[in-house]
Amino acid sequence: MNISIPQFRTSLHLFAGVLFLLTFVAAQPKSIAQRVDSLMRLMTLDEKIGQLNQYTDDGAATGPVTLDKDKPQQVKQGKLGSILNVLGSERTRSWQKVAMQSRLKIPLLFGQDVVHGYKTTFPIPLAEACSWDMDAIEHAARVAAVEASAGGIHWTFAPMVDIGRDPRWGRVMEGAGEDTYLGSRIAAARVKGFQGKGLGSTDAVMACVKHFAAYGAAVGGRDYNSVDMSERMLWETYLPPFKAALDAGAGTFMNSFNDLNGIPATGNAYLMRDILKGRWNFQGFVVSDWGSVGEMMNHGSVKDPADAARSAIMAGCDMDMESRCYTSSLAKLVTDGIVPMTVVDDAVRRILTKKFELGLFDDPFRFCDPKREAKALNDPAHTAAARDVARKSIVLLKNEKNLLPLSKTTKTIAFIGPLVKEVKQNKGFWDVELPGVDSNFIVTQWEGVQEKAGKNFALLYAKGCEIEGNDRSGFAEAVSVAMKADVVILSIGERRDMSGEAKSRSDLSIPGVQVELAMELLKTGKPVVVLINAGRPLVFNELADKAPAILYTWWLGSEAGNAISDVLFGDYNPSAKLVMTFPLSVGQIPIYYNHYNTGRPATGDNDRHYRSAYTDLSIYPRYEFGYGLGYSPFTYSGLKLSSGSLTRSGSIQATVTVTNAGKYAGEEVVQLYLRDLVGSIIRPMKELKDFRKITLAPGESKSITFTIDKETVSFYDPQIRWVAEAGEFELMVGASSRDIRLKERFRLTD
Ligand code: NOJ
Repeated sequence: MNISIPQFRTSLHLFAGVLFLLTFVAAQPKSIAQRVDSLMRLMTLDEKIGQLNQYTDDGAATGPVTLDKDKPQQVKQGKLGSILNVLGSERTRSWQKVAMQSRLKIPLLFGQDVVHGYKTTFPIPLAEACSWDMDAIEHAARVAAVEASAGGIHWTFAPMVDIGRDPRWGRVMEGAGEDTYLGSRIAAARVKGFQGKGLGSTDAVMACVKHFAAYGAAVGGRDYNSVDMSERMLWETYLPPFKAALDAGAGTFMNSFNDLNGIPATGNAYLMRDILKGRWNFQGFVVSDWGSVGEMMNHGSVKDPADAARSAIMAGCDMDMESRCYTSSLAKLVTDGIVPMTVVDDAVRRILTKKFELGLFDDPFRFCDPKREAKALNDPAHTAAARDVARKSIVLLKNEKNLLPLSKTTKTIAFIGPLVKEVKQNKGFWDVELPGVDSNFIVTQWEGVQEKAGKNFALLYAKGCEIEGNDRSGFAEAVSVAMKADVVILSIGERRDMSGEAKSRSDLSIPGVQVELAMELLKTGKPVVVLINAGRPLVFNELADKAPAILYTWWLGSEAGNAISDVLFGDYNPSAKLVMTFPLSVGQIPIYYNHYNTGRPATGDNDRHYRSAYTDLSIYPRYEFGYGLGYSPFTYSGLKLSSGSLTRSGSIQATVTVTNAGKYAGEEVVQLYLRDLVGSIIRPMKELKDFRKITLAPGESKSITFTIDKETVSFYDPQIRWVAEAGEFELMVGASSRDIRLKERFRLTD
């Protein structure tokens, strides 16, 4: 072939151009997807399965442990992709060093239940939700992430976004209560807090939204129990907080222990493949709950570990926490052609992508940093944040004759009860026990009150009784101490581990003889302020009737003592509102504000004949959703709608004026509820649609505007389509779900 000089020149230019392009492309940083693909090309099937495998570290276990003597060996062989419960930068670093001895040096992912704080402990999530303060909630998660990430934790198994309508279920303490709208807002705030500026930053901790799905509806409130639920209920009530967390950027999901309509959530393709990874296009990965892959054998949906592994991975469960079914069976399932390689590859790709996004391949040790850890764990700003949110979480249930705030001129205070001097109880369930960290940084209730006492007043103490048991021998001393005081503060409640995982209770009364002690103290005629410490709504009618002042303090975390004392003495005006209905009796459960109307609704306690009501119980709860007092009353006036008619493309504004009619500056949570009067599917009696938390000086008024549009009035129709139906709506503004102050109506027009 003869090539002319001009032709040769053209080819040369072409060649040079292609070379330039190739060099340019090669010089471009590879995308994460490309890096994952390159890595996966090098991986054996066993190494791939290793990435899908998660064990707990020896030591702090959060479930039934299987002991492995050869864990380091397994890590070196690339048989483990993640470890949970590895505490402290030294330990995370040493495990990561082991992973760096594996053939492909794929970094380990360290997961931990950082549920309400790491070292600095915030109120239990249910309490924190009562603050209705999205900034404070997000900030609490941020602080937890800053501390945990410095200790080498990449991934937190939080937020728990299960709707909780049954206080017998101990895990209501981990969630945001009974309401879907509020729960969704809080879910998003927590995800944003944990993940901060995004997974590439060293102080971000990847969120894991759990438990997918409907775990909170366990029959009878018995943990791990079955869930039988309509599609409508699933979509309308239980799924939205998960979607909100996903929209906020949550990197991972955890499935759950329960079965949903007969199919265990861990092997539920409808939940994970169709909804989560299909309809919602979730790109992250799903981890099982502890051992839940293997537990499908107990459910009776699979016959052996291999069947369990098949069921879980085919349904979309990417990582196996602790059950070892993937390790033992997945390779054979793939070689036998039962599980397609593409399914395993997809799971591996999802997990590796997160490891890349976290920056672990650039520096596997970038998180575990002892210097950063020491600084983060001792940051006074974290302590201040914990105190701030703790006092915002305390619910004032009763305050007869304005007994609270206590006068700073009170001469003698008797502080009585089994929880006054407790240290760790204040942390509640799901705290993190860090090695080498002394718990004396936790401010006890005694210390908090003593701090204010200074030289101003005498503080007396008596324990009175234990949390449980029937020993009344301390009553006499408690009564005599009370007699010497001007005012009594009584701190009683649950033990911190009476609510939490596997802590279902059928009797929700305050345990032991604590209420009896309260009655003895009330008989002295002294004013008694009762502090109730608990992880769930309890039933305490006699106390609620007879005690002049009650603060529901939940478990407030490491700043509990200071926060309680701030509220007792008026350095903080309580503003929290309940996020779960408090029943009058266990017999009312499940009880929640946003129920449907029946054909025969009871309209009051005098109207129960042939009505949907108990013959022997009030139709009302003890305290309703959204309820909570402050030291100043707030008045509501002038509700106005910008128009009585809403179009599908437009919006209307509801404006209301709120005034602080008391003498203390304070915050009010102004709540907006809607009722769709006629729907193709019955709509709840009222549904929370928006709220504002505002601060008002004494005498100050503020005007608040809520916007209502098509989204606000939409719901899922029987085909699970998100629709807005034309018709009439009632708009209600109030200080609780029952304390509706003002109402208006509007129409959605076609
Ligand atoms: C079981 C719990 O259900 C889950 O919430 C938790 O994250 C895991 N154990 C790990 O501790």
